[in-house]
Amino acid sequence: MRALLMGLPGAGKGTQAERIVKRYGVPHIATGDMFRRAVELGTPLGLEAKRYMDQGLLVPDEVTIGIVRERLLEPDAARGFLLDGFPRTIPQAEALEALLAELGRPLEAVLYIAVPRDDLVERLTGRRICPKCGAIYHVKFRPPRVEGICDICGTPLKQRDDDREEVVVKRLEVNAAQLEPLLAFYREKGLLYEVDGTPPVDEVTQAIFEILDRVK
Ligand code: AP5
Ligand code: ZN
Repeated sequence: MRALLMGLPGAGKGTQAERIVKRYGVPHIATGDMFRRAVELGTPLGLEAKRYMDQGLLVPDEVTIGIVRERLLEPDAARGFLLDGFPRTIPQAEALEALLAELGRPLEAVLYIAVPRDDLVERLTGRRICPKCGAIYHVKFRPPRVEGICDICGTPLKQRDDDREEVVVKRLEVNAAQLEPLLAFYREKGLLYEVDGTPPVDEVTQAIFEILDRVK
């Protein structure tokens, strides 16, 4: 399966990606996760990415395209992949298309998880993540069994640096501005599937599996 997940910040890409990659056995390639890892490690890429992420801005296309290209050339991506959070601009989408054409492995589906903007601020400001295993929670919609502690590995949960309200508003604005042209790009190619992201997580997962079972 070669697919990508699109949606505004907080739409549920990371939450659904965990489940999709488990079912279809493909690597999860999430540019946001790759940048956060680089920030933690303090690499030159991390230092550069942090300047943009902390302000809710997009990391420049050349940088982002470069890391995705390298990742897609790794051997495990030959069996398929789920891209999450990439592409986010038309130049990124064009670069991806060119690379996949070169590799002879075109995209099979683009899933757009649609959630009204008004719901997203609450989702993002209430999100908590496990710094150890990456599990995603929400104080109201997906609380852990013990408050503030990861169900899976027992680690104390934390808030992402860019989930502070002032950064959230900027992220939504920046991403919304890029969204329509990208949806049009994939709609024109007949690859776009829209999924309603407002029902509970399990229902959204079900709708996604139904689509991917048909196209894979
Ligand atoms: P990235 O990490 O990709 O962040 P994002 O796009 O802002 O998306 P999020 O991870 O915030 O949200 P999500 O859709 O994964 O939602 P989640 O499942 O966690 O990018 C971070 C930054 O990196 C960017 O701002 C940018 O600077 C940079 N970057 C990354 N990619 C880039 C690119 N291609 N180009 C340039 N720069 C790039 O869910 C959110 C919350 O809602 C959770 O608490 C969850 O529990 C809850 N939730 C999920 N589903 C439901 C549901 N159905 N009902 C109720 N609650 C739900
Ligand atoms: Zn954990």
